[in-house]
Parts: sequence; C-alpha cells; structure tokens
Amino acid sequence: MFSTRCKLLLDWYGEHGRDLPWRRTRDPYRIWISEIMLQQTQVSTALPRYLAWFDRFPDIRSLAAAPLDDLLKQWEGLGYYRRVRLMHQAAMKIVCEHDGEFPDAFEAIMALPGIGRSTAGAIASFCFAANTPVLDGNVKRVLKRWHGTADAADKQLWQLAQGAIDLSGDPACWNQAMMELGAMLCTARSADCKACPVQQHCASSFQIDYSVEPRRRVPVRHLHWQVHIHISPQKGIWLQQRPGSGIWASLWTPPIIELQDVPDTAPVYIHQLTHRRIHLYPLLSDAAPSGAGRWVRRLEGYALPTGIHRLLEKTDLA
Ligand code: ADE
Repeated sequence: MFSTRCKLLLDWYGEHGRDLPWRRTRDPYRIWISEIMLQQTQVSTALPRYLAWFDRFPDIRSLAAAPLDDLLKQWEGLGYYRRVRLMHQAAMKIVCEHDGEFPDAFEAIMALPGIGRSTAGAIASFCFAANTPVLDGNVKRVLKRWHGTADAADKQLWQLAQGAIDLSGDPACWNQAMMELGAMLCTARSADCKACPVQQHCASSFQIDYSVEPRRRVPVRHLHWQVHIHISPQKGIWLQQRPGSGIWASLWTPPIIELQDVPDTAPVYIHQLTHRRIHLYPLLSDAAPSGAGRWVRRLEGYALPTGIHRLLEKTDLA
C-alpha cells in the first residue's frame, strides 16, 4: 500500500523536482556544504554561494588547512556563523581521523561537529544510499499532515519517516522528494492539495486547518547596541574581532557597547535574528580607540556581519 504512495511521490519528484546543483552530485563534501548552507538559508541565496565555495575551498583538506577567518569571509552574509566554526572543526576531524576522506558510516557522519541526525541522514542517503531519513521542518510538517498527527512528537515522526524511507526503495530520491514537497506544495502558509501527488493518501488533504497546526513561536529579545565608529583618514576604521561564541562570533565589528536603557533616538538599523532583534545606534567617536583591535583600511579582507555593513552604508561610511 505504502509503496504505491512512494511511487506517486517519487514520480512527481522525478518530473517536477528542481534541478539544483547539489542534486547532481554524490560527492559527500559538496553535499555536506550544501546541507549546512541550506539549514538556515534559502535555496535562492545559497545557490551562488554554494558554487563560489568550491572555488575557494575545493576539497576537505583545503578547508581544514585554511584559517577560520578565511571561512568566515567566504560565508559573509549567510548568517548563523556558528555553522562555519563547526564546519571547520569537522573538516579538521575528517583530516585527522579519516585521512581526509568523508566518512561513509552514518554514526561516523553524525559524530562530526555541526552534523545532527537529519543532516547525517541526508548525507548518508544522498551519497551512500543509506535508508536514513531527513527530518527537517518541512518534512515534519508533511508527515504530520499526511498522517493527521498535528501534535506528533519528534520520536513518532522519526518512526514514521523511517518506515516510509524503508519502503521507498530509493532513499536518496525519497528524502529529496519529501523536502521538495514541503518546500514547493505542502508549505506552512498554504498547501496546494490539488497539485499534490499523494493527496488521495493524505489524512489532511483539502482540509488543512492552519489554525490548529502548532506554530513555532520563538520569544524574541530586543537588544540595543551602540556601535562606536572610530575613523581615521590615514588609518581607516577601527575593528575588533568578536569572541568565539555568541552573536556574530569571531566576526569583525567596531567596538560595541550594549545599552541597558532604550535610547530616545531611533536605531539606524535593526538586524533580525531568530531569537534577537538587534537595534544598532552608531556613535561617531573622535577619541582614540582602546583595547584589542586594529585599524583597517580596506574591509574586503574581513568578515563583517551584514548588520554592520548596513549600518556603515546608512551612515555613509562603508
Ligand atoms: N534543504 C535542505 N536540503 C535540501 C536539498 N537537498 N534540496 C533543497 N532544499 C534543501
């Protein structure tokens, strides 16, 4: 029974699935980079950055050998920079423990920094044909609607996902197809049940009640940051490297002071993260900068957060 549904979905994917560069390869290094990029970045944004990545870091050894600053620069603008630090650690681990070859065993893939069960499932299925499901946000939504289990916990969803991929006969295409269905037809905002290849087998088809679907509400904290901009016509702009953890970890910014009180003036730029809204207030300073940092004449060699780029643009300093 289920294999009929599997075939319907796989046929639909074969006909309608987007032709994306990471779907044309089984090279685990390329798949790994694509999956990390796609975790929190849209396909359209990731596309050119995915291609450019391999010009700079053609293989795992070049990634492991590069300074973290070079990785951050190449990742600039993609956000969630923790991903880069963990990728760097994973590349070094692959060189040290796997002689530079991406491991093919699911457990070994999952033991790499920054790779969880779903990403390991993607890599193991796409590259090594393992029956390991992907369970990202899109796939969770599809499974919940399909089985009419809006409140299902992850444990149950993993079981459903495993059962389905076991019957699919083609784990790589199955995972891609489930992600594609969630991204293109069965989206959070609307479900195109008319176009859905498995609508006849879906517990929720044509009757999805968006109001009962539990929405992930993330509490957002507001931060107010004063950005101290020291400019010297001869020496450039004073930048500091942020600590290795926390917001904008290891990126370069002018000195930032967190304000305890909300200023009377409007922020010049607001940078939105998943859990934070950072209100940025530039303060042009004539004083000599202090503490660790350096004068930078050209920003090109440094990875700056997008929020700081925007702030400098808006203050005509970029
Ligand atoms: N998001 C995560 N993995 C993906 C993939 N392989 N194709 C499209 N979107 C994705």
